[in-house]
Amino acid sequence: MTLQIKTLEQYKEVYQESVEKPEFFWAKQAETFHWQQKWDNILEWDFKTPAVKWFEGGKLNITENCLDRHLATRGDQPAIIWEPNDPNAPAKTYTYKELHAEVCKFSNALRANGIEKGDRVCFYMPMVPELAIAVLACARIGAIHSVVFAGFSATALADRIKDATCKMVICSDYNARGAKNIPVKAVVDEALKQGCSSIEKVIVHKNTGGEVQWDDAKDIWWHDTMKDRATTCKPETMDSEDMLFILYTSGSTGKPKGVVHTCGGYMVYTAYTFNNVFQYQEGDVYWCTADVGWITGHSYIIYGPLLTGATTMMFEGVPTYPDASRFWKICEKHQVNQFYTAPTAIRALMAKGDEYVNGHDLSNLKVIGSVGEPINVEAWNWYNEKVGKGNAPIIDTWWQTETGGIMITPLPGITDTKPCYASYPMPGIQPILVNADGEEVKGNDVEGLLCIKFPWPSMIRTTYGDHERCRQVYFSAFENMYFTGDGCRRDADGRLRIIGRVDDVINVSGHRMGTAEVENAINEHPAVIESAVVGYPHDIKGQGIFAYVIAQEGTAGDADFEKELRAVVTKVIGPIAKPDKILVVPGLPKTRSGKIMRRILRKIASGDASNLGDTSTLLNPEIVDAVRKAAGV
Ligand code: WT7
Repeated sequence: MTLQIKTLEQYKEVYQESVEKPEFFWAKQAETFHWQQKWDNILEWDFKTPAVKWFEGGKLNITENCLDRHLATRGDQPAIIWEPNDPNAPAKTYTYKELHAEVCKFSNALRANGIEKGDRVCFYMPMVPELAIAVLACARIGAIHSVVFAGFSATALADRIKDATCKMVICSDYNARGAKNIPVKAVVDEALKQGCSSIEKVIVHKNTGGEVQWDDAKDIWWHDTMKDRATTCKPETMDSEDMLFILYTSGSTGKPKGVVHTCGGYMVYTAYTFNNVFQYQEGDVYWCTADVGWITGHSYIIYGPLLTGATTMMFEGVPTYPDASRFWKICEKHQVNQFYTAPTAIRALMAKGDEYVNGHDLSNLKVIGSVGEPINVEAWNWYNEKVGKGNAPIIDTWWQTETGGIMITPLPGITDTKPCYASYPMPGIQPILVNADGEEVKGNDVEGLLCIKFPWPSMIRTTYGDHERCRQVYFSAFENMYFTGDGCRRDADGRLRIIGRVDDVINVSGHRMGTAEVENAINEHPAVIESAVVGYPHDIKGQGIFAYVIAQEGTAGDADFEKELRAVVTKVIGPIAKPDKILVVPGLPKTRSGKIMRRILRKIASGDASNLGDTSTLLNPEIVDAVRKAAGV
């Protein structure tokens, strides 16, 4: 197991060592894993290209470390506890032995269905244990998984399948979410009509058992292909820098990009951070409520916990079904020790009233975590008092799809906590604040753009199929630094507070979205001439989506038009990208070079039209008043 820091003194020492001798520090952590062959070189890096290699020459299979390694010591311990959507249905437990057997069986099934090392396999599945099993099976045979959140539309799914030229899709028949039974296979069918010629087979897991369309030439039932498979499977030997997975995420321009993570570094970093950030102890039950469709689910439902030999929970449903006490009922039922969720869920549950949390036995909680977006002080206090009862420290963990693992966070019981502050860097992480010119913002009580100036094992290696884009987006803004896209404040004592994105990325209920992506979707409506999308403060979602639309005459105030716009966004991206507010405007404020002045639109969307700044240099200054009037501010 990796080193678990226990005291503040130790954190300071370890941190110092990790900065002064990073290679020595990470090699020590890496040595605690099972390698088929040791690495030749700990680290090689250059942020210009960028080219980052950790533990080069090392041979491993991450699933041997997640599963095989634990069989002798904890074979009968629960690895995954699955809590179904239906509160009256029994939970399902997989011990490490059982999980190992299921993963091996599915690995053999994948191979029998023509999947080989290096092939890309797309997932479009609800939160069922088969998702974790199949992801691990891919990793075992060296196939690259690309999990797509099952809330995305057929078009969004097709885009991702095509970008990674996936050979197979693994899906379910339906998704049981609250009172709804959402078709899943039908969305895959729809996606495959959109030019996904690389797909040879679709493996379908029967979840709720509803009707599905069937194509004998390519569709295969999970239970059929699993029949009589051997329960052992020799893992593929992977190089440390071989690709482990692709995960698509949104940026400020263009289509979502496939963030690439590799085997060795990702393994070491997710295990190290899981062990330390959650202070996991033998026998604890850990629950992260994220979806495996996002990086949080990859790193802290599947890989980090299983690498650590933990018991990790998976929940199929939603926090408000059958009512707003579901999370707390599950915590009580499974005596959850570490609980990790998103601010948007906390705010939504807080809004339902304290009666839903009160009266549940949450005394097993030792650590409660927050992730994905800034947590406001009211939500932080409520979480602290009502859920943690003042006994379980809140860890406000900042990180990104691109960072692979948690970067900045308090360590519970070790470092202090302060509302809204992610606070301190993990060992091995060297954050730096810079101004727009790339000069370091030194000292305390200051603000700047958050960058990281030294590589860490689980950092992004490339964007799939387009390395130049990776360089451009993350490594070109400032020399020799990884640019996060976030603004950050350092308080008088040196704690870090993430303020939010400084680019055209918005964070809606913890879902990351590019405003350009939403605009492109809106623009597909034939009556739309131009649109501009910005985020605005939203009580529950953190940010809401505000769409300014220039449309053909006669559409203003037309309720059907708004409905159609939401439908087109749902079709192109998915319901998570539906605009909360749509405003038809006669024009958009633009600079002389034709760029939309989003700063002004953001202000107006927030309901505040004071201090719009100097608008006289605009190409069309008169439009500002017109937009303001249309918005009623
Ligand atoms: C963006 C990354 C980290 C996994 C889930 C989201 C925002 C993330 C925090 C936090 C304030 C946060 C940032 C970041 N963010 N965690 N604790 N406090 N903001 O991953 O979808 O890649 O989004 O989420 O803006 O850049 P993601």
